[in-house]
Amino acid sequence: MEKKTIAVFGATGAQGGGLVRAILADPTGGFTARALTRDPNSAKAKELAALGAEVVSANVDDADSIAKAFDGAYGAFCVTFFWDHLSAEKEMAEVELMAKAAKKANLKHVVWSTLEDTRLLVPLSDDRMPTLHGKYKVPHFDGKGASNHFFTDAGVPTTFLLTSFYWDNLIHFGMGPKKGEDGKLGFVLPMADKKLPGIAAEDIGRCAYGIFKAGDAYIGKTVGIAGEHPTGAQMAKALTDGLGKGEVVYNYVPPEVYRTFGFPGADDLGNMFQYKRDFETQFCAARDVAFSKSINPKLQNFTEWVKANKDRIAVG
Ligand SMILES: NC(=O)c1ccc[n+]([C@@H]2O[C@H](COP(=O)([O-])OP(=O)(O)OC[C@H]3O[C@@H](n4cnc5c(N)ncnc54)[C@H](OP(=O)(O)O)[C@@H]3O)[C@@H](O)[C@H]2O)c1
Repeated sequence: MEKKTIAVFGATGAQGGGLVRAILADPTGGFTARALTRDPNSAKAKELAALGAEVVSANVDDADSIAKAFDGAYGAFCVTFFWDHLSAEKEMAEVELMAKAAKKANLKHVVWSTLEDTRLLVPLSDDRMPTLHGKYKVPHFDGKGASNHFFTDAGVPTTFLLTSFYWDNLIHFGMGPKKGEDGKLGFVLPMADKKLPGIAAEDIGRCAYGIFKAGDAYIGKTVGIAGEHPTGAQMAKALTDGLGKGEVVYNYVPPEVYRTFGFPGADDLGNMFQYKRDFETQFCAARDVAFSKSINPKLQNFTEWVKANKDRIAVG
């Protein structure tokens, strides 16, 4: 039987990379991976080609290249790259291009990596957190949530995939434990005693693969994924036990303080954590761990992830 091609944006990155590797690790699964990249000659692109992916040049800002990337494919994994440019407007324009191209290419299934439009629960008039860039509360969430309609409007068979906080942020995003003035390792989160749904970035792609493999089951649906919903204190305990570098203490930093940390996007992330803290029940309910495991049997919890990555986690 001819294999179904999935065109994967972000293939050299975290989410898309996990999907490409999941497809290629299952040669009898009925799918092949078309890895989309701006640079097919990069080391990462060549690595994917060596694993068996078809590598195709595409830029999410360029409609013609998206059309070529989707040509002849069965499905696509769509993701945008907020942290490369910090613009929700740019993300929305990109989603519109991808949705229109998906319709033109007559794709049978798109998995769109989205997040909540937080303004549905925190309208701009709600001053518990500042409004950012004039019209958002959490720009990197709101732009994605506000883009869902592009797929629906275009009539594209779509699964809306709500992702979770990557635990890999402890490796790549400066969120690992840091030594305080008392010499103790501290792990900072603005979550108080609330649960933070999280996931190994690699598991997002594996879950997306499970969704493609399920055929029509999740088309037209919004599904959320997480590997576990630990509290900050539980994460600190797992880091204490797993890193072998002494006690890691959970340091709750209120969102209003986190917003002032000064790195690009600190205000966006402060608002994001506040949203997750203040709407813990809804946010966790939208990301069921048992469901995530059902579409990705390899799903890791935080303790397992720490064990597997203990030498990569940045400890300052
Ligand atoms: N960090 C978190 O905790 C978290 C949680 C949930 C959701 N997210 C969301 O995840 C999204 C990013 O996904 P990711 O982490 O998988 O990304 P990533 O690891 O940063 O990888 C992005 C890849 O996409 C490619 N890319 C960048 N700009 C592109 C463009 N204009 N056209 C085509 N490809 C482009 C790059 O590949 P080439 O250089 O090869 O083209 C890059 O390797 C963000 O929007 C973020 O909001 C993050």
